Amino acid sequence: MCGIFGYVGEKKAVPIVIDGLKILEYRGYDSAGIAGVESGKTLFYKDIGKVDSLAKMIARKQLKINTAIAHTRWATHGGVDTKNAHPHFDMKQSVAIVHNGIIENHLKLKAHLERENIEFLSETDSEIIAQLIGHYYNGDLLKALLKSLLKLDGAFAIAGVHQNHPDQIFIAAKGSPLAIGIGDNEYFLSSDVNGFLKHTNKVIFLKDGEAGILHKEGFEIYDCKGKRAVKQIEQIKSNNYEISKLNFEHFTLKEIHDQPESISRLFVSRFEEEFGSVCLKDMGIDESELLETSRILILACGTSWHAGFIGSYLFESLSRTPTQVEISSEFRYKNPIVLKDTLVIAISQSGETADTIAAVHELKAKGAKVIAICNREESTLSRITDHTLLIKAGPEIGVCSTKAFTNQVVLLSLLALHLGRMHHQSKEEAVYFIREIKKLPQLVVEILKQSKHIETLAKKYNHFNNFFYLGRSYMYPASLEAALKLKEISYINAQAYPAGELKHGPIALIDKDCPTIALCSNQHTYTKLLSNLMEVKARNGPIIAFAPRNSAGIESIADDVFWLPEVCDEFASIPISVSLQLFAYYMAKFRGCDIDQPRNLAKSVTVE
Ligand code: AGP
Repeated sequence: MCGIFGYVGEKKAVPIVIDGLKILEYRGYDSAGIAGVESGKTLFYKDIGKVDSLAKMIARKQLKINTAIAHTRWATHGGVDTKNAHPHFDMKQSVAIVHNGIIENHLKLKAHLERENIEFLSETDSEIIAQLIGHYYNGDLLKALLKSLLKLDGAFAIAGVHQNHPDQIFIAAKGSPLAIGIGDNEYFLSSDVNGFLKHTNKVIFLKDGEAGILHKEGFEIYDCKGKRAVKQIEQIKSNNYEISKLNFEHFTLKEIHDQPESISRLFVSRFEEEFGSVCLKDMGIDESELLETSRILILACGTSWHAGFIGSYLFESLSRTPTQVEISSEFRYKNPIVLKDTLVIAISQSGETADTIAAVHELKAKGAKVIAICNREESTLSRITDHTLLIKAGPEIGVCSTKAFTNQVVLLSLLALHLGRMHHQSKEEAVYFIREIKKLPQLVVEILKQSKHIETLAKKYNHFNNFFYLGRSYMYPASLEAALKLKEISYINAQAYPAGELKHGPIALIDKDCPTIALCSNQHTYTKLLSNLMEVKARNGPIIAFAPRNSAGIESIADDVFWLPEVCDEFASIPISVSLQLFAYYMAKFRGCDIDQPRNLAKSVTVE
């Protein structure tokens, strides 16, 4: 994980890199640091905490450097303290580096250098990079860099400075993203193009194994054998999304409230109701490929995996396509079987999730066609897949995913409807589903209007430390997602189960101190769920039901009921998820948590 940023040019580097680092803070915010070269010596500042702490620390220093590298950390190797914060150095402090990724063989390399009396200062895997470069350096920086890279196993995006080369930044990447922004006599480097988009939209992306040098007159990029690489400059389209909390207290709350609009954005020119068709032409879908699809494989992590899980129910029900959904980190080590006619769908909000990217590489190596469902057009995932379907949720700043999740589910629903119509669905059936899905933005508005009620429930229940979330059918993956929201932002233990599984063990945990959140929006299995809730009630477990208005009998079982608007089972995960996002939000607020940037997390998980 972690974000790296750098600047070389004629302007004051410090405000530019601090600004870039703030944009990258979604990649980790345990500590931050900056390095440059002044009067022939490396200088650096680093501190635990967010980028703002670093900014305050260096504000007084009036640094005049025109070249700087910077880092915002999500701890992997070594605790959150100043010695493990980046930048890291060689023993002589002649080289400073920042790193995103994991060096898997760092212990072996470290033991080797220690035998040569090289002392290490941190517990990180990253320090080995600086120590190796310092060790091999004899006047030729590029040579020392390339020689060091050959020793490293794992993933890395690296930027560094050397005291003998004051106006240069060396860079390298393998398995972690690194983009170079090209300005007028100035160059930027960033883990994510958004870091420098306000300065330039001319970009080159480093390919795996490439390394090079940036200086204000230009850049040189080489492959791992030291051969000069010819790089294509790309122009990135700037998006018009404004990043602001508006009057909301947190980005997370604002993003929950964005959902009627973000869902509607996916619906523009989408439906031809008189023909019962969902039009996906503007998404550039290859219709002939879809016609040949007889099996779907979905890959994702975290919330995106939950969306994919709901997607698997949708594809099987609406388009009768057998669908397998896999967690990328497990799937990538399975030696997967790729069958002809399988459509692989990789889902990721950020498009930078290391496990999903690695799983896609594995499938592509086996000849599979892969489409991405992503929120970021310029992401690594979008660039390595055959085609990208954009969820158009707009920037999601809160670490806890909200509007990206609902738009992923809506996009999967549209795809399932389209595929269903191509395969077997009658016009009448299709028209029914189109009418149902079109209701979603308005149903979400109705939920948001009832925020006060959800806040009251959170006030009543926020002192409990353990929760169960139960659902059946579509409501099972929805309960996994709702429980994840509560865990992530309020730090309350929450276990989600298919309601029918409770009696196979977890029911042992039910007592008066363990409330159950019942997700009642699946009409098809509603009476079965009621029986499971009776089992909870019989063991004195408090029950808070989130139920559609037509749910008979729930009031007599549950301690509290939040009434939801009605919609068909297939799309019911959307309104209920929004209500449970709000529930998690208010629970976290009552407990005084850092909602937008919860502890131990990062928005983009770029290490495996
Ligand atoms: C969501 O609230 C989480 N922060 C997390 O589970 C996230 O969905 C996961 O890391 C996958 O991210 P991606 O969608 O960017 O691939």
